[in-house]
Amino acid sequence: MMFAVYASAANPNDPTAGLLIGERPEPSVPDGWVRVHVKAASLNMHDLWTLRGVGIKADAFPMILGCDGAGVLDDGTEVVIHPVINAPGWRGDETLDPKRTLLTERHQGTFADSVVVPEGNVVAKPTELSFVESAALGTAWLTAYRMLFVQAQVRPGQTVLVQGSSGGVATALIQLASAAGVRVWSTGRTEEKRALATTLGAHATFEAGTRLPERVDAVFETVGKATWSHSLKSLRPGGALVVSGTTTGADPSADLQRVFFLQLRVLGSTMGTRQELIDLISFLRLHDIRPQIGLTLPLPEAAAGFAAMQEGNTAGKIVFTR
Ligand SMILES: NC(=O)c1ccc[n+]([C@@H]2O[C@H](COP(=O)([O-])OP(=O)(O)OC[C@H]3O[C@@H](n4cnc5c(N)ncnc54)[C@H](OP(=O)(O)O)[C@@H]3O)[C@@H](O)[C@H]2O)c1
Repeated sequence: MMFAVYASAANPNDPTAGLLIGERPEPSVPDGWVRVHVKAASLNMHDLWTLRGVGIKADAFPMILGCDGAGVLDDGTEVVIHPVINAPGWRGDETLDPKRTLLTERHQGTFADSVVVPEGNVVAKPTELSFVESAALGTAWLTAYRMLFVQAQVRPGQTVLVQGSSGGVATALIQLASAAGVRVWSTGRTEEKRALATTLGAHATFEAGTRLPERVDAVFETVGKATWSHSLKSLRPGGALVVSGTTTGADPSADLQRVFFLQLRVLGSTMGTRQELIDLISFLRLHDIRPQIGLTLPLPEAAAGFAAMQEGNTAGKIVFTR
C-alpha cells in the first residue's frame, strides 16, 4: 500500500465530502509504462471537478487525484509528467485524440507516493526549476502556453486580456504573455489579486467587468458565465477569444450577433502536446521564468489546499509535496 489523496465517490454539491486521505494499493507497472516517484504535484480545478463527478465515470472511483506532477523514475531520472494519455497507436497532436484521457479520468493520479504513466508521458525536468515549480507545468502552464501561442498565436506588441489574476492558468498566462513582449491586461476580484498580477508582469489591471481603455487583440477565458459577455465586448473586430474553462458555469449567452458582426474568433483549447510541454520548458529557461506558487503544503495536509481553491483563495499554483 502507499499514501494517497483520493476521491471515494462523486459529490456534485459538496465535492470535498468525498475527499479521502489514506492508503491505496501501489500501482503495478505495465509494459511500456514507467513509475514516477512523486516529489511534488499541483492542485487543479480539475480535481474539484473530479470530486463532483464531472468527466469521470461512476465505476472509476475510488480515484487518486492529481493531474500533474514532477518526480523521479526508478533509475533516478528527474521528470515532469505530461498528463494527456492517448489510446494505444494514436499518432499526431495528442490533444486531438478522441479517446484521450487526462490522468484521474481513467488512470490513477499523482497525489500519492508514486504514479504510473506511459513512457512517452514524461519529459526531462528542467534543472533550473525546483520540483515544486516543475509540478505546475503539466496542466495549468501547458494549457496557458497552448492558449497563447498555438490557438491565439499572439504576437509581441499586441494587447491581451486575461480574465482572472490569481488562478493557476491566469497567473501562467500573465507570466508567459508578458515575457513574450505582449501587453497584458487582467481582471481580478480583489485589490490583492490585481497587485499580484502587476507583480507577475501585467501592464494594467481592472476590476472584473470594467470597460477597458481600448479593445484588445485576444481575450483568455477560464471563468465562463461570469465573464463571457465582458470578454466578447472587450475584443476588437476580428479578435480572438480563447476559452479553456468554465469555472462559473458552462452555459453563457453566446451573443451570436456580436460574434458574426465583428467576425470574432472563438477558439477552444485543452491542455497541450508533449512537444508543446518541451517548448514551454525551453521558453521558461530562455526567459528565466519561475511559475508563481501561492501555497505549498505537505501532501497529508492537502485538504487545506482544496479548501483554499474552493474559496477562490489563490495566489498562483497550489502545490503538494511528498
Ligand atoms: N481545458 C483545459 O485543459 C484546462 C486546463 C486547466 C484548467 N482548466 C479550467 O480552467 C479553470 C481555471 O482553472 P485553475 O486551475 O486556474 O483554477 P484556479 O487556480 O482556482 O483559478 C480560478 C480563476 O478564476 C477566476 N475567477 C474570476 N471570477 C470568478 C468567479 N466568479 N468564481 C470563481 N473564479 C473566478 C479567478 O480570478 P481571481 O484571480 O480574480 O480570483 C481565478 O483566476 C477551471 O474551470 C479549469 O477546469 C482547463
